[in-house]
Amino acid sequence: MLMLRKTAGAIPKPPKSKVYGFLRFIVHPRTLSCNKLVLGIETSCDDTGAAVVDETGNVLGEALHSQTQVHLKTGGIVPPVAQQLHRENIQRIVEETLSASRISPSDLSAIATTIKPGLALSLGVGLSFSLQLVNQFKKPFIPIHHMEAHALTIRLTNKVEFPFLVLLISGGHCLLALVQGVSDFLLLGKSLDIAPGDMLDKVARRLSLIKHPECSTMTGGKAIEHLAKEGNRFHFTINPPMQNAKNCDFSFTGLQHIIDKLITHKEKEEGIEKGQILSSAADIAAAVQHATACHLAKRTHRAILFCKQKNLLSPANAVLVVSGGVASNLYIRKALEIVANAAQCTLLCPPPRLCTDNGVMIAWNGIERLRAGLGILHDVEDVRYEPKCPLGVDISREVAEAAIKVPRLKMAL
Ligand code: KG4
Ligand code: ZN
Repeated sequence: MLMLRKTAGAIPKPPKSKVYGFLRFIVHPRTLSCNKLVLGIETSCDDTGAAVVDETGNVLGEALHSQTQVHLKTGGIVPPVAQQLHRENIQRIVEETLSASRISPSDLSAIATTIKPGLALSLGVGLSFSLQLVNQFKKPFIPIHHMEAHALTIRLTNKVEFPFLVLLISGGHCLLALVQGVSDFLLLGKSLDIAPGDMLDKVARRLSLIKHPECSTMTGGKAIEHLAKEGNRFHFTINPPMQNAKNCDFSFTGLQHIIDKLITHKEKEEGIEKGQILSSAADIAAAVQHATACHLAKRTHRAILFCKQKNLLSPANAVLVVSGGVASNLYIRKALEIVANAAQCTLLCPPPRLCTDNGVMIAWNGIERLRAGLGILHDVEDVRYEPKCPLGVDISREVAEAAIKVPRLKMAL
């Protein structure tokens, strides 16, 4: 059953014209198999995504509208703007998905939608749209936890059995969890402040990378990765955060402030105004990327050792999954590969397009829940979105108490 929380939000009523718009779905002639089909809808942040996935993991159709270019211009996500863009695009995205899938809504076994956590205004658009579809076509509804969906995506692309360890790193999230079942998670650690993607976005903005000819259309994290390739990280010494805390938590605010100060110092030294691009921008990008990679690697290493020590992961067959937008960073992946090799673990990452937000992961999470018979609602009266929602059972105190010392690894990246 869906747990209602005090933070749960009210569902905004969409304009009438949108409701009637649904009646125009084209019904495609299709030989129906007994294969279950789930429509997944994602609107938790700044991507409007939808997909239809079948029981075997085939993606019948998908569509995605990214708001990145709009938010890059305003220097970050403005929630009412994100809401408006979701409203403008959701119907088209779902119609395109159903059309590409060559199915009509009546062929669906269920509709799965992200309802937590995320931006309240964005979640509300996806939820109210989905509930109209659910009511109109009398379909079961599967509420989805956004981070659960990121974590399970790997089971769509690879044959991965439970349990496995997952590191989720994006613009809004940073956590390490043991995935024991479809909705059975142990939280080992999380960011105590901002997420790594958020920090990289802020550094990229401070470096004015939007004015850089090669980076102007890239997200902050991608721009940092791109620029870092030409930079020399050894020009700056930036220590990774929390080196003495023997837990699996993360912190990125301190790193952001250190880089901020460094940029201000360099601007003075180079005699340029805030807003102009530093000649040392690539070196700064390389140094911040390296510190981020080392921080993520060390906490993840400790998590693997903790799970092996407590017999939570198989000593011979341990799997580490890394997902979320920041997981598309190849430098960070390399650092995690070094850790995985040292700890005798197999590292798996979904392809980059499935690491960032998308409708496929939501539809797949719907299939996983449908197969396990978990959280399938036939009455949607009490469903609310939840902007804040932890993932799983928090055992981070136990992890800290174990105070596992992580062997030093040579990060020759
Ligand atoms: O998962 P995602 O699409 O959205 C959520 O935040 O949930 O992740 C977006 C984040 C942004 O902060 C972006 O800067 C970061 O992922 N990102 C990257 C890269 N590509 C996207 N960070 C580092 N390296 C990249 N290549
Ligand atoms: Zn995400």
